[in-house]
Amino acid sequence: MAISTGLLSIADLTPEETQRLIQSAAFLKRRRKSRSLLKGKTVALLFEKPSLRTRVSFEVAMWQLGGYAIYLSPAEVGLGKRESIADVARTLSRFVDAIVARTFAHETVELLAKYGSVPVINGLSDHEHPCQALGDLLTIQEKKGHLKGLRLAYVGDGNNVARSLILGAAAVGMDFAIASPPGYELDKQTLRQAKKLASESGARITTVSEPRRAVAGADVVYTDVWVSMGQEAESEMRRRAFAAYQVDAALLSKAKEGAVFMHPLPGHHGEEIAEGLLDHPQSVVFDQAENRLHIQKAILVRALGGKPA
Ligand code: CP
Ligand code: NVA
Repeated sequence: MAISTGLLSIADLTPEETQRLIQSAAFLKRRRKSRSLLKGKTVALLFEKPSLRTRVSFEVAMWQLGGYAIYLSPAEVGLGKRESIADVARTLSRFVDAIVARTFAHETVELLAKYGSVPVINGLSDHEHPCQALGDLLTIQEKKGHLKGLRLAYVGDGNNVARSLILGAAAVGMDFAIASPPGYELDKQTLRQAKKLASESGARITTVSEPRRAVAGADVVYTDVWVSMGQEAESEMRRRAFAAYQVDAALLSKAKEGAVFMHPLPGHHGEEIAEGLLDHPQSVVFDQAENRLHIQKAILVRALGGKPA
């Protein structure tokens, strides 16, 4: 899948496309006044779940590029309830130039892409969060000056964020070590896919159950929530299973000197992150949040055929 037809998974991109997006985003970040690149273009933000960063960064990105974004809340559209996913996709495609979709089931973004005739960008599904991972790679590139040869330690749930991140890291040659409790590991298919990409880029993929083993020698320590949107019924069970997987200053100190701490946010203080960790001198989480804006500008410009930066 070329990005001009959408972005459902980070694996839709070749490693070269990923690098180009990171470079374009860095360029657009330096030159904030690029108002005309998407003049006259319109994007629908079709969301089934809450959002702060994804919604605001896409809306601001479109505005700053001279285009327009329309936010469609779950209650308004009733995706698959008031109207079928296929009919929503076909109708929206007559009005807008791209659809950014945040859905529960990954199949929903796939169906939107199948029936729509405009690019569909995955703004988070239960399976992946490609815009997050691309923004994260931009942040790591900024903080460390390069990506290849670095080691990222992910502590926690083998979820949508972990899935996109491991595939993105493996594609650009970054070692990825993940520590998850039993029953919450990344699925075998994603691990196979990541190992294949890693064998081509020279990266190493390691799965462990002990957080300290993942973090030893890491340049980046990363975690995400224990209970993702849609998993609220499992909250108690998950909190018990993940109790030994909290990232705190002591765990961070086991990483390489100068390692950065990352989290996609929203963060749950006292759960996956110790109180105060976001304010730790090694935390880069708000730069990471800001970079969603810059990477999504690069994604939108490529997907909508604006003059590439
Ligand atoms: N990280 C992220 O996607 O945040 P939101 O859920 O607030 O969009
Ligand atoms: N894994 C989290 C990420 C939120 C940005 C979720 O899906 O809720």
